[in-house]
Amino acid sequence: MTSRTLPFDPPTHVKPVVIAFFDEPTNTFSYVVKDPASASCAVIDSVMDIDYASGRTSFTGADQIIDYIRDNDWQLEWIIETHVHADHLSAAPYIQEKLGGKLGIGDQITRVQETFGKIFNEGTAFARDGSQFDRLFADGDSYAIGSMTAYALHTPGHTPACMTHVIGDAAFVGDTLFMPDGGTARADFPGGDAATLYRSIQRVLALPEQTRLFMCHDYLPNGRAVAWESSVAAEKAHNIHVKDGISEQAFVAMRESRDKTLGMPRLILPSLQVNMRAGHLPPADDDGKVFLKVPLNTL
Ligand SMILES: [Fe+2]
Repeated sequence: MTSRTLPFDPPTHVKPVVIAFFDEPTNTFSYVVKDPASASCAVIDSVMDIDYASGRTSFTGADQIIDYIRDNDWQLEWIIETHVHADHLSAAPYIQEKLGGKLGIGDQITRVQETFGKIFNEGTAFARDGSQFDRLFADGDSYAIGSMTAYALHTPGHTPACMTHVIGDAAFVGDTLFMPDGGTARADFPGGDAATLYRSIQRVLALPEQTRLFMCHDYLPNGRAVAWESSVAAEKAHNIHVKDGISEQAFVAMRESRDKTLGMPRLILPSLQVNMRAGHLPPADDDGKVFLKVPLNTL
């Protein structure tokens, strides 16, 4: 049986302001999370736009977030990645350049960098020590957003470095849970594991019942409108993959058979090469041109 113990006391009396931004091409939510007692805020999981066919990148979505923060005179303190995303490219360095703030991710990023450094045949210039980020969070680590204390909760399974960020009564679950009718994230990427994901989800569900849960993705199941906010109580009662009464064994069997039917995300190759570098593009060649690799027959 897994432990339901959390490495911190969830500060549910703090109620941050949360604004969601939806990136339709990748079904990804980015969030601005603001301290109700000051102008301090954080950005969670930003998106850089890419037209993969033409190789063109742009920042329409990130600019909306930047404008929103500027228009409100808020102060960006943190740029958080819940994990190394495989379905979209991060805009974290772009946002950091415009607004400042420290860039943070889970400390198991080193394992992800090790795995994908090999897959993309990176040379020694690609550091596998997480040094591309300003802060590597261990399980239970805290950091300040104005007067709020935010906590990182290690929730691996989808990837080894996945963290859920608990900020007051809000938790940003990354790719663990989806909305109750969407179930859970896949666990078949290199370094993923369905049993580990189940145990991580139990940690998220050990937060207080009223905790607001903010999703990283929504795929609009059964044609319903886009949705991004759930709660521990709602997930326990209704999540189609992990509601109360579904055992680890049953979950693993379901998750593994379902994952076998899923194709790779459209943007996995560009996403990983950029996101394992904290959202930076690979170094330019001698002519100043930047290239991404397509390793054949590897993933
Ligand atoms: Fe993901």
